[in-house]
Amino acid sequence: VKKIRLYLGPRSYNILVGRGLIKDCGRLIKKLRIGKDAVVITNRAIHGLYKRNLKESLENAGLRARFELVPDSEKAKSLKILTSLLCRLAAADKASSVFIIALGGGVVGDLAGFVASVYKRGIPYVQIPTTLLSQVDSAIGGKVAVDLPAAKNLAGAFYQPKLVISDTSFLTTLSRRQIASGLAEIIKYAVIGDANLFSYLERNYRKIFNGHPGALEHIISRCASIKARIVERDEFDKKNLRIALNYGHTIGHALEAASGYAGSYNHGEAVAIGIAAANRIAVRLGFFKGTAADRVERLIKNCSLPTKIKRLKVDQIYRALMHDKKFIHGKNRFVLPVRIGKIRVFEGLPPKMVKDAIRECM
Ligand SMILES: NC(=O)c1ccc[n+]([C@@H]2O[C@H](COP(=O)([O-])OP(=O)(O)OC[C@H]3O[C@@H](n4cnc5c(N)ncnc54)[C@H](O)[C@@H]3O)[C@@H](O)[C@H]2O)c1
Ligand SMILES: [Zn+2]
Repeated sequence: VKKIRLYLGPRSYNILVGRGLIKDCGRLIKKLRIGKDAVVITNRAIHGLYKRNLKESLENAGLRARFELVPDSEKAKSLKILTSLLCRLAAADKASSVFIIALGGGVVGDLAGFVASVYKRGIPYVQIPTTLLSQVDSAIGGKVAVDLPAAKNLAGAFYQPKLVISDTSFLTTLSRRQIASGLAEIIKYAVIGDANLFSYLERNYRKIFNGHPGALEHIISRCASIKARIVERDEFDKKNLRIALNYGHTIGHALEAASGYAGSYNHGEAVAIGIAAANRIAVRLGFFKGTAADRVERLIKNCSLPTKIKRLKVDQIYRALMHDKKFIHGKNRFVLPVRIGKIRVFEGLPPKMVKDAIRECM
């Protein structure tokens, strides 16, 4: 088991990565002394797969567990489901020692974390991420939210968990497409901050798809510590450091928005194309070598991820881009690589350059 500590003074917590950790959940959570009554927020699919193990582990440690199910899709991250969960919590809450466990991918994690942040002005919660994407990214760092009709993640908070438990054996029941989606974020981490991780991925991507426990533990703990170090320095996203995590996401989000969120791309696929496009901009600017961009694209393709945009027009994507939260007064802002392992933030790039780079990815 690997342990990464995220240091935030009184809000510090551990991120544990290892195979079979679900059996230890009860003991690990009990040690936190955050209460005796766990409300586990999850969805039907994950409940079917992992409820028994988790319930048993919690009860063996003397904790009580109640399961609350939410729909299985981004639709769960809505005000409607948030309200319903808060009311269900209040109706059953006789004890003052209630806390929340988020058992699931990024959807469940973002929603359950937000519920924890507002119920009684904040109760403790634990993240038990079950997808590769949530283990390397969404379960860490305390950004919790639901979507509004106007945009994704528009109502939310910064609210840190008390513990993150990443059991790599959950990943054995994920589809190849979901593993690939997580790999897009992992490639992001490698390019923004870890050239060794990048070469490791080039050599070992097959092991990840085959569920090799050692390889999974290695890459998940590496990514968790890269994210932890960034979050420690910029918990509230005020110092322009967390923006590094948005590499590949500017154009990626625009693709998701332009194609409709339940559209042709899942998040990781959109990010993979966003990475390829960002690299093309960096090459055009003369800051990133064409050979390095090719190397990243080769890895993306080897990970069964797309690098090309289908069925969308350049102007459609550019229009979606202009709505990006990180653009100030319509001035664009991009996180671009200068070499594998190092990025820089660029502002106010000529629209034509951005559009040409997008066109190159069609
Ligand atoms: N808070 C953050 O910092 C942050 C960062 C990145 C992404 N996100 C959010 O994360 C969400 C995406 O997360 P995701 O990719 O994990 O998607 P997801 O939560 O929708 O999970 C993907 C699918 O896998 C299923 N699933 C989960 N675990 C499984 C398992 N072990 N075996 C089989 N099936 C399983 C789920 O039921 C779902 O159908 C988005 O809403 C995004 O906005 C948040
Ligand atoms: Zn992402």
